[in-house]
Formats: sequence, C-alpha cells, structure tokens
Amino acid sequence: MTAQDGAFPRAEVVVDLDAVRHNVGLLADRANRSGARTMVVVKADGYGHGAVQVARAALEAGASWIGVCHLDEALALRRAGVTAPVLSWLHVPDEDFAPAVAADVDLSVSSLRALDAVLAGARAVGRPARLHLKIDTGLCRNGCPPDHWPELVAAAAAAQAAGEAEVVAVWSHLAAADEPNHPSVDAQAERFAAAYDVARAAGLTPIRHISNSAALLTRPDLHFDLVRPGVAAYGLNPVPWAGDFGLRPAMTFRARVAFVKRVPAGEAVSYGRTWVTPKDTTLALVPTGYADGVPRALSGRMEVWLAGRRRPVVGRVCMDQIVVDCGDDPVAEGEEVVLFGPGDRGEPTAQEWADTLGTIHYEIVTGMVRPRVVRTTTSRADQGDRAEQTDRAEQTDRASQAEQAGPADQAERAGRGQDRRTPTGVSS
Ligand SMILES: Cc1ncc(COP(=O)(O)O)c(C=O)c1O
Repeated sequence: MTAQDGAFPRAEVVVDLDAVRHNVGLLADRANRSGARTMVVVKADGYGHGAVQVARAALEAGASWIGVCHLDEALALRRAGVTAPVLSWLHVPDEDFAPAVAADVDLSVSSLRALDAVLAGARAVGRPARLHLKIDTGLCRNGCPPDHWPELVAAAAAAQAAGEAEVVAVWSHLAAADEPNHPSVDAQAERFAAAYDVARAAGLTPIRHISNSAALLTRPDLHFDLVRPGVAAYGLNPVPWAGDFGLRPAMTFRARVAFVKRVPAGEAVSYGRTWVTPKDTTLALVPTGYADGVPRALSGRMEVWLAGRRRPVVGRVCMDQIVVDCGDDPVAEGEEVVLFGPGDRGEPTAQEWADTLGTIHYEIVTGMVRPRVVRTTTSRADQGDRAEQTDRAEQTDRASQAEQAGPADQAERAGRGQDRRTPTGVSS
C-alpha cells in the first residue's frame, strides 16, 4: 500500500526497520570499540515500534541481547521465537517466575525477597535462574540499597553454589546520563565499582552493565561488558547537543485527507471557536485526533506535511480529527498527511512535538500504540526494493510459527552470561 495508490490506512504508524538496523549497527559498533556487547531495549512494545520486529531487526544488526521491563514482555519475545538472551527487570512481589526461568529469561533481582521468589521459580522448574543483581547507585527506583548489597550478594552466591542460580551480571541505571558531565554520573560509577568489588570478593565473576543510549553515546568509560540502548535504536537522540551520531528516526505517523472544502473569511474552526479564518481559504479535514495520538495540547501549535509543504493545524485538536489550513493551494481528498516523521522531507519530527509539549520524544513515540492506528513496517532488507506489511498480522503469524517450533534451544549458551543466538537471533 502506498500513498500514490491511495490505499494506505486512515491513520498509520510506519516503522522503518531499515532505520532500526542502521541505528543498532552504529550503536553496536560504538559498543564493540569498548569491547562491550549491545542489549537493545524493546520494553513498551519497542517504544511503540513493535517489540518483536525491533528485536529481530536489532539482533540482525549487531545486538546480541534484548531488554524488557516485564515478564510478559519477555515471554512474548520467546513465544515469537527470539532465542537471544532476554533480561526482564521490573516485577511485582507475587510474580510467578517459573515460566520465565523455564523460558531462559534473565531476571533482575534487587532484594532478598525478590531473590527468594526467583529461586522458588527455579526450584519449580528444576533449573538454575539467571540473575542480574541490581545495585541502586543513585536513581532511587529499584535496585538494592548499598547497605543491603552485601547480604544480597552473599545470598545470590550461596544460591549459585547450591546450583539454583547463576549470577550473570551486576548492573545499575543512571539518573542523568543525558548530562554526562553531571557529577552524579561519576558518583554513580563509583558506587557501581564498589558494588562490583563486593560481588568479586564473594567469589562471583559477573559481567557489568550501566549505560543507556545517552551513556553509550557519551561515556565510553561506562560501557563495561554490555550497554543497554533503547531510544537511540529507534533513531531518537537523547543528547542532540552532542551531535546527531548518524541516527535515523524509525517512526512516521501519517494519515489521509478525509475531506476538503472552501470556507469564507470570518468562520470559526473546530470546538471552542479558537481560530477564525482570516480570509477565504481551503480547509483539509484529517481524521486523526487525540484518540489517535495527536495531543490536544498541540492545538494551535502544530503543523503537518501536506501537498509538498508544512501547513498549520488550525483550531482545537478533537478526539477524531484535526483541520489543516491550506490557503489557496489545491489539496486532494485522500492525500497523504505526515504528522511527524524523520524530518527528511521537512515534516515535523517527534522531537519537535516533544519540544512544543515540554516533554521528551520517548513519550511521543511510546504513546503511538493506539487501537485505531495501524502499525505498518517498511523494510528493504527483507523483500527486495520495498516491502510493507502490517506488523500486527506479521506478529501473529510469527508467534504461531514459534509455537510450532517449540521451546528455545538451551544448549548453545555457555560461560558467564555470554551471548547465544542464531545468525538472526530467532529460531523460526
Ligand atoms: C533499566 C533501563 N535500561 C536501559 C534503558 C534504555 O534507556 P534509553 O532509552 O534512554 O536508551 C531503560 C529505559 O528507560 C531502562 O529503564
């Protein structure tokens, strides 16, 4: 489906998997230069881009780990056939870890209580749990407080000695990585080093990871064994002041003109009558609104790319529609309207929306998982010159293939958390 044949959906998020591969290639190269491997973070449905398809593309492009927040996110990747190491790091107290241990999902642990729960899962399935012990170095979210760290390490070491666990990593998360010269970054690095020393003194030989995208791009001294980029894999730059790093935004949000009409001067447009036509003009109605991810707070403060140039959205953003002022230009019903994209054609970007709204581009793209917005994938690498398909259909298809393929092969991974993957990191 293309804009030219007029057959693309009413409202559509187009994910450019070639851009994801490009970005991950750049990031993995940077990590490699420090001797580090790359875990691409695909939580929150791949920051709105589709977790499974991004994981697959990332593994093809040089990542060797995948990171998620929740167990169900990890298990969905396994069901879809992703066999690379997957780390899951945020769990509730009554979580059943048995399915995750059985599916070879690496698990973050921040407390003795969490360790006990994970070990119960390991015992239930009769295999050791793969642990990443998380130290709170100064973010104060999860992570073990430093004064409880020695007892957590000791208990994890005992579990490893008993064959119930393998301590794969010591890890942490930075609070101000996007300000790499902020003293807190070095302070966190110092606490991280101290926590690692405690683990080594307990006889453990874990890998270390602490860097998100911003630290990967700006603090090579903190790459350690593994880096965890999320947003940069999607082509969004967390440190734009430090350079563009060659990143390519992967998401485009587009729609189609539903209706065009000529309106005389002096007519008020949309709810609340906040904008009045200053002269006779052509208005294009676009059938996307705040229910589709266009924030109402952008009312009167946004433009779209339509018929070869940027044009203002006038009046209030409604639940289902926005109105674009096209002046005296001819605009056709059915024509493509780009709400945001990589910016190559001059269209607005997710960064621009975020700046206008006083938020971050993470929130813009992650908020694009909407029931009424079709998500479509483009990928030249997969199928000749240009391939497009709706990834919801694709994911369903892959999930059923993976179920037929059976559980991931456990045998290939060896050593202290080293990577195991097929050439594409997937089994199907
Ligand atoms: C623990 C953890 N690691 C890595 C990331 C990736 O961060 P970013 O998207 O800034 O690269 C996140 C995302 O918030 C995270 O929560």
